[in-house]
Amino acid sequence: MTEIKKELLYTGKAKNVYKIENDDEVLIKFRDDITALDGGKKDTLSKKGAYNALISAKFFKILEEEGILTQYVKLVNEDEMISKSLDMIPLEVICRNIATGSLLRKYPFHKNQELQPPVLQFDYKNDVYHDPMLNDSIIIALKIATEEQLAEIRRITLKINEILSNFLKERGLILVDFKIEFGFDKEGNIVLGDEISPDTTRLWDAETYENFDKDIFRKGEEGVVDAYHVVVNLVLTDEEKEKWNVEKLDL
Ligand SMILES: Nc1ncnc2c1ncn2[C@@H]1O[C@H](COP(=O)(O)OP(=O)(O)OP(=O)(O)O)[C@@H](O)[C@H]1O
Ligand SMILES: [Mg+2]
Repeated sequence: MTEIKKELLYTGKAKNVYKIENDDEVLIKFRDDITALDGGKKDTLSKKGAYNALISAKFFKILEEEGILTQYVKLVNEDEMISKSLDMIPLEVICRNIATGSLLRKYPFHKNQELQPPVLQFDYKNDVYHDPMLNDSIIIALKIATEEQLAEIRRITLKINEILSNFLKERGLILVDFKIEFGFDKEGNIVLGDEISPDTTRLWDAETYENFDKDIFRKGEEGVVDAYHVVVNLVLTDEEKEKWNVEKLDL
């Protein structure tokens, strides 16, 4: 364990954010808490935080290699990521490749309909208002982002979708959809923050369409952490698994 001097800034539903010595950075601790259905369903699952941190770090590294700006600085422990401190934009940027979940409840898509081009959606990250869906003019009127910033967010999100979809496809998984958050760094760049993990994506087995994500928890089924462990095994190299003592699975 690497001990870093830290001071709690805020506690979210699944992560804590700490101030550290370098003011340009924060330490994000991925906790084992899991919630769903607007906070209506809760549990604590051992190792969940570590698996999400390891998967997020891997995705951020791959995205950085492809020229996407991310918060990622380094993992200091299996569940603790040093990240660039960002002034977060209160948007949940959702990108969907297959119609499932709330899209089926709200609109007449057919189950598992392929969405080409991908469907982008912006929700207002605001618990008081229960994260309502926004459109461009509401985002601009609320001064959440300018038209140009919104265009940039769309462009980066589609690029992230392409990079991660390809990476996962090579490992037998479909990136069905995901939610990401952006923030501004001190130079004013739009930077990918938060996490990209099975808590914030839908990942399906390419052959069987079995879930390897938080939908297992939403449905009240067992084996959430085992499924996240499968994802860690598929995305990390053997070297990375050894470094973080991730038990190897015979897949
Ligand atoms: N690089 C960063 N710098 C500063 N704050 C960040 C950064 N990345 C993420 N955050 C913020 O840290 C918090 C992370 O907390 P967490 O995801 O646990 O809770 P939450 O977002 O409040 O709840 P939920 O995601 O369940 O709606 C969020 O408010 C997120 O916007
Ligand atoms: Mg969050």
